[in-house]
Order: sequence, then C-alpha cells, then structure tokens
Amino acid sequence: MSASHVSPSARAANAIDCAESPHPADASVPDGVPSQSAGASAAYVAPAHLARFLSLSDFEPAARRYLPRPIFGYVAGFVEDGTAQEDNRLAYARYGFRPRVLVDVSKREQRITLFGRHYASPVGVAPMGISALTAYRGDIVQASAAQAAQVPCIMSGSSLIRVEEVMAAAPATWFQAYLPGDEAQITALIDRVAAAGVETLVLTVDTPVQANRENNVRTGFSTPLKPSLALAVQGITHPRWLCGTFLRTLIKHGMPHFENNYATRGAPILSKRVMRDLAERGHLNWTHVARIRRRWKGPMIIKGILDAQDALRARQAGMDGIIVSNHGGRQLDGAAAPLQVLPEIVAQAAGMTVMIDSGVRRGTDVMKALALGASCAFVGRPLNYAAAVAGEQGVRHGIELMKSEILRDMGMMGIASLNELNDTFLIERRH
Ligand SMILES: Cc1cc2nc3c(=O)[nH]c(=O)nc-3n(C[C@H](O)[C@H](O)[C@H](O)COP(=O)(O)O)c2cc1C
Repeated sequence: MSASHVSPSARAANAIDCAESPHPADASVPDGVPSQSAGASAAYVAPAHLARFLSLSDFEPAARRYLPRPIFGYVAGFVEDGTAQEDNRLAYARYGFRPRVLVDVSKREQRITLFGRHYASPVGVAPMGISALTAYRGDIVQASAAQAAQVPCIMSGSSLIRVEEVMAAAPATWFQAYLPGDEAQITALIDRVAAAGVETLVLTVDTPVQANRENNVRTGFSTPLKPSLALAVQGITHPRWLCGTFLRTLIKHGMPHFENNYATRGAPILSKRVMRDLAERGHLNWTHVARIRRRWKGPMIIKGILDAQDALRARQAGMDGIIVSNHGGRQLDGAAAPLQVLPEIVAQAAGMTVMIDSGVRRGTDVMKALALGASCAFVGRPLNYAAAVAGEQGVRHGIELMKSEILRDMGMMGIASLNELNDTFLIERRH
C-alpha cells in the first residue's frame, strides 16, 4: 500500500514527525505528560504495512524469513569470531547522557551540511555490495529512498546495477570505489564514475586482502553463487524472494553482473565456472590516493580509517572527509570500534569532515557520535534488511525512524541545534 492510500486513522497512528516542529508528534504518552498533537505538515506518514517496524532492529527478523539463508548470512555476517562487530555496539553502550533541562527545545533543527550540500539529518546509507540480490533493484531502492528522505547515500562499487542507472534515478548519490589493481584500470573507473555524474567519491581502504568470512563458507555463500541443489532448495523455500527479487530481476534485466568494480562489466552473480576477478589490492598505497586526488574534481573521502595518524595522512593527501569505520566488523576481527577511536581521529582532522559507521542503530547512537565530533553517521545492515522486506518504502521508513529518534533525543537532551552537542553531554557508564 502506498503512503497516499493510507486511511486517515492509520495516517494519524503512523505519522512520524521528522521536521523541526513546535509540536512534535509523540508516538507514546509519557507518564503524566499529555500527548501532543502531530503538528507539522512535513510529517512523514508511514505506510500502514510498515507500522510494526518501530526501530531499525525490527527489520532483521523479517529479512531473515524473507531471504535464502546464504544471502541473509552474507548481509548479517561478520569476520571470524565477531569480536569487532560486537565491540561496535559495546562502544555505543559505554556512553550515557547528561541531558540539560529547562532549555527551550520547542524548535529543533537536525539539518546538516556536508561538502556544501544540505541534508535533512546526520544519518546516511552506507555502501553495501550486491544489494540488488537482497532487494529488487536494491541499489536504486536505497539511493532513491535516501534522496526522498534528503540524506546521503553511498552506492557500493561491488554492485550489480550500473552506476549510470543509479545516478539517473538518484543524482545526489555518492559512489564508493574499490580500487582495481593497476593504474590504467583505476583511471578508467574513476573517469567513468565522473562521467556518470557522481560528485562525491568514497575510496574504501580497509580491504587490502580478502577477509576471513567463515560464515559465508558455512552458509554456502560465494561470489559468484555456485548453482547447487542446496541453493535451489533455498530458493524454492523462499518463494517471495525467488519471485519478487531474483526471477523478477532475471526476467526484466537479465543475469546480474558486477557492474562497477571496473570501467567494464565484471563476473555474473550466478555461475558454475566463472571466477570473480578480485583485484589484487595489496600494493595500493597513499601514492594511488594522491593520483586519484589530482584527477577527481569533487569531494573525496576515505572510508575505513581507524588510526589518528592515518587521518592526518588523509588530510595531507587532500581528502575532504573520512569515514571512521571497521566495515561493520566484516574485515579484521578485533579492529577497533570506530566510536572508541573517534575522538583521537577528530583531534587530527583539522577541518576535514569526519563521519562514522559500524553499529549505528539508534538516534542516541548518532547523538553520541556527533557529541564526539562526527558530522554524520551511516547505517549499513538494517537498511539492507529494510530494502529486502519492503523496498524503497522500507528504506525510507528506516531512515525516517532514525530522524524521528534524533529529533526526540535532541528535545530530551535539551538542545535545539546539533552544533550544541559536545562531549560534556556524555558520561561513561559503569557496569
Ligand atoms: C551486505 C554488506 C555489504 C557491504 N559492502 C560494502 C562495500 O561494497 N563497500 C564498502 O565500503 N563497505 C561495504 N560494507 C560495509 C558498510 O559500508 C558499512 O561499513 C557497515 O555495514 C557499517 O556497519 P553496520 O552494518 O553495523 O551498520 C558492506 C556491509 C554489508 C552489511
């Protein structure tokens, strides 16, 4: 059901007010405080069928049911023992808040500016490879939802839809590149991405070698997927995914291929024999970054920084921004939780925009990251699940949930503007 076909009562029940508003909508009635009316006309109206998704974590069980096991396992998965992934959440849990009271928070503003562009909220969609396998036209779905919600979205270079198509659907999308191995291939890819209309380029640098994703082996996931009886059984036992995503894609667009790792088309997503040409990236270093910097005219960002000296090098290499990230705990097990190293990295940033991802699930997480100096926080897995179970509406809903949480948290913490946030609002919790 589309938003425009929702009944008035469902509309009232599902309204999430994400605009700065003198009368923010309250989904619940706090003890002794009368419920306020949903005032702002800019309120996002959740489609009735998404009303049960009350937080980002609600998408995961639905996606687990919808997706074949190897594919769900690929999204949910982590490297080795999952220590890095666990630490990502623990780092957020380590902090509590010192709210300020009796501050006029009747008008609150969560809009931000990144690289000269205005966004409605300090949250964005992290780049996720193979998104068109979990959701029909997944990359377009994520980018279009983010554009409608006016937040940044980074499309992955390991995607199955051509960057040109995604940019046509959502021209504000950022592009994340995995650098190919040799110089000519790097140049050709960068030139193609620029010609597609991409303004903001993100280089992911935390994948110099292949990660040890044992869970992919256990669930039978590989790229390309190898046809097998077990895979066929998974398809048949997940008919909504089989028909609604995979067969629909095959019929309408043909066999998906890796489209954006190089300037030219890569391997298909399903094949018995084809080996994916995973570029050898072990030799890539700062001189490659410097060369791309000279070529790329727009904002350029490095994703995957966890060390303050690397942040300094990024700044010296002319980066406009960095994303402090451990890839959601999917690369090096035990890699530092981004929130933990954020303050020392911000200290070296000197004007460079510092963003963060890995384990961001709540508005309060975004508040903590911003209080420690981040400008924007990106969300990965939950928005992939949202795309799988409810397409563009699902991703939009996930983003709007985060916006509404942030707006509410601002009120609770006694701030009208995100600029007021700093580490004095945080307290280390004792356990
Ligand atoms: C299914 C999936 C695919 C991903 N693919 C990429 C990718 O192609 N490029 C990249 O830079 N990061 C990739 N990531 C990492 C995300 O961009 C992001 O760093 C991470 O998901 C954030 O952690 P979170 O999932 O806990 O929010 C991927 C993550 C997931 C879950």
